[in-house]
Amino acid sequence: MGLNSRAAYLFALWTSHLFFLTAGDSRVNPRIITAPKGESRFPLEKRENLITLYHEEGDSSLLVGAEGKLYYFDFESSSNHVEDFPEQDSGACQKPEEEKNYLTFIGKYHDTLLICGTNACKPTCWNLADRNKSEVAAQGLAPFVRNQNSLVLVDGEAIYSTINLHQHNGKIPRFRQVRGTGELYTSDTVMQNPEFVKATVIKQDERRDDKIYYFFREDNPDRSPEAPLKVSRVAQLCKGDKGGTSSLSASKWTTFLKTTLVCVDPATKSNFNLLQDVFFVPSDKNWRETRVYGLFSNCWGYSAICVYTIGDIDTVFRTSKLKGYTKDMPHIRPGQCPWDGNHTPPETFKIADLHPEVEERVQPVVPRNSPLFHNKNRYQAIGVHRIQARDRHTYNVLYLVTDKGYIHKMVEMPHGVLNILEIQPFQPPAPILAMTLDHRRAKLYVSSPTEVVQVPMDMCEVYHRSCESCVMAKDPYCGWADGKCVSVKTNLTMLQNVTLESSLEICPRSVFKQQEVDSPESYRNVTVALFSRYFLHCPTESHAATYMWHHNGSRIQNCSSTHRPCIHFIKNMTHNHYGRYTCISEENGFSQTLVKEWLLKQPAPSQTLMQRSQAVSVSPSFWLGFLQMMALARLFQ
Ligand SMILES: *[C@@H]1O[C@H](CO)[C@@H](O)[C@H](O)[C@H]1NC(C)=O
Ligand SMILES: *[C@@H]1O[C@H](CO)[C@@H](O)[C@H](O)[C@H]1NC(C)=O
Ligand SMILES: *[C@@H]1O[C@H](CO)[C@@H](O)[C@H](O)[C@H]1NC(C)=O
Ligand SMILES: *[C@@H]1O[C@H](CO)[C@@H](O)[C@H](O)[C@H]1NC(C)=O
Ligand SMILES: *[C@@H]1O[C@H](CO)[C@@H](O)[C@H](O)[C@H]1NC(C)=O
Ligand SMILES: *[C@@H]1O[C@H](CO)[C@@H](O)[C@H](O)[C@H]1NC(C)=O
Ligand SMILES: *[C@@H]1O[C@H](CO)[C@@H](O)[C@H](O)[C@H]1NC(C)=O
Repeated sequence: MGLNSRAAYLFALWTSHLFFLTAGDSRVNPRIITAPKGESRFPLEKRENLITLYHEEGDSSLLVGAEGKLYYFDFESSSNHVEDFPEQDSGACQKPEEEKNYLTFIGKYHDTLLICGTNACKPTCWNLADRNKSEVAAQGLAPFVRNQNSLVLVDGEAIYSTINLHQHNGKIPRFRQVRGTGELYTSDTVMQNPEFVKATVIKQDERRDDKIYYFFREDNPDRSPEAPLKVSRVAQLCKGDKGGTSSLSASKWTTFLKTTLVCVDPATKSNFNLLQDVFFVPSDKNWRETRVYGLFSNCWGYSAICVYTIGDIDTVFRTSKLKGYTKDMPHIRPGQCPWDGNHTPPETFKIADLHPEVEERVQPVVPRNSPLFHNKNRYQAIGVHRIQARDRHTYNVLYLVTDKGYIHKMVEMPHGVLNILEIQPFQPPAPILAMTLDHRRAKLYVSSPTEVVQVPMDMCEVYHRSCESCVMAKDPYCGWADGKCVSVKTNLTMLQNVTLESSLEICPRSVFKQQEVDSPESYRNVTVALFSRYFLHCPTESHAATYMWHHNGSRIQNCSSTHRPCIHFIKNMTHNHYGRYTCISEENGFSQTLVKEWLLKQPAPSQTLMQRSQAVSVSPSFWLGFLQMMALARLFQ
């Protein structure tokens, strides 16, 4: 396999229409730009419907686990190979469609790469060293059949998992320790039909306080008619948990507690009760400031982001009363991590096991008690990257995957969220099955059913037009230097101020003037046949701008915010229609010319009517782009 030439060709053809950036939602100023450079892609050998990505921070390669195959792609050297993991016939499956080997887990354990798959209902793991596979025990590391409820978390010697150990019994989902200091699992009564979302380990000030937090949805114990059916939760467990002291409790976690994550819009009271995804943003200062970005949806499928801190979650577990428990707390509180080597006292465990939920709930922190934002998109996944901008501030940039195959890039600002780009990584749009981030190299890795792509986070070429467009984009990855919009990764001195209201304050006037030169040479000459049809297309760079077309210097068309992109149609080219056309955008008192075309008559008279101009510049890709633009314009009206 290779970066095959056909794909490369298509990529070249589409390059100027690859990334449509459009207004997804309400809050402020989203940009729409095409044609960033620097992305690269690899095709998969067949259509996949389950993808597991594995990527090491700072590395240029990506492992893609799929059905019966493990793909290796290196985005720097373009080297790649595929390793087959065919299912071994086990006769253990009940349905023929289960007789596949879905690779559901890829991870480093004991310094070797562990790859686990369903292997036709006989879960199997392989150690992979130098393309040599050796089978290892898989219990709890891969499910028997594909399953949304499988979480595996590796932390040093320990592996935690939500996967059933046996195919037919033990259907009640549990959170387990499957490798490490003995097996542990949650009591069957502490969760009601949990659907697991994410888990993490947080090292606290003292080693004995190190905790596992996991996030899930479950049935709401409140069955009143107005209460939602499901609630979103976070649970805690001590890493040093030794299990109970009796034979019945010896393999049970004794430090389990859970609480509700609140994500309610205070203005509309809309309750975003269904947690969909979680992303952790560690703090370099203090574990308490580790941020938890929760992506929630409500019963309409709308989305909200609520942000919590591990410190707040920890405080709730340490201080809150237990729901339904009114007596005095024992000396060692439920949820408290026992001293090294000790067990949780039986009386403490008994109370915790009967009252696993705490009364107090966890509220979002930024802004206080309210979602960071909510909108009508149906987001599926979230990634967050912290970037140090040149204005010396650090910004959290959110990458949200929509159900329509787009990624919304948003910047968290002191007073809300700025929607700066909508990225379409696949052409035509395809469902996004998986996404992972490389913080050090500032890349996104995204997979569709047929392709994986590396998308740079710093796609500054999209704001190339002027200092104003670069600065006004408020993209913390980009600044204006040497007449170009460049990435903050370069060490050029650049103009950038993400919090600035108007770019005019920092952009030099001269750059602005240069734009306005109206020489014949500045036009693109297009020959158009008499009596033919023609249209002029103006790219939408920002939804906050207004656009207009001028002909021979006078205004002929205004485009309102619902007429995007701004297109001027000429149904039948007559003599009067020739001449100079310019598309001008205006935003915040700043105007710029985006398109200059000079329509010229066809020199030869013998042309069939309706034939399009021989305009070389109008390629098939242009038409493709045009059709997509029209589709998008309809989508966002
Ligand atoms: C792969 O495994 C085979 C058989 O066990 C062994 O002979 C060979 O040296 C291994 N190759 C590497 C690179 O480890
Ligand atoms: C960064 O700056 C240093 C000194 O200012 C210079 O020597 C170096 O070449 C620059 N690196 C790049 C990649 O521009
Ligand atoms: C950015 O712009 C704001 C508003 O004009 C100003 O207060 C701030 O000092 C600027 N920051 C930098 C680093 O230039
Ligand atoms: C376009 O044609 C005009 C003459 O109609 C000429 O002056 C101008 O230089 C041409 N522009 C370009 C970019 O070739
Ligand atoms: C365009 O206009 C000319 C002259 O008015 C007319 O003869 C011709 O039929 C028109 N073509 C179309 C397609 O309407
Ligand atoms: C466009 O808008 C301007 C100002 O709002 C108005 O003067 C002009 O007549 C409009 N032009 C067209 C073609 O609608
Ligand atoms: C615009 O200018 C061109 C010459 O550049 C001329 O042929 C055309 O008739 C003019 N049209 C109008 C409406 O002024």
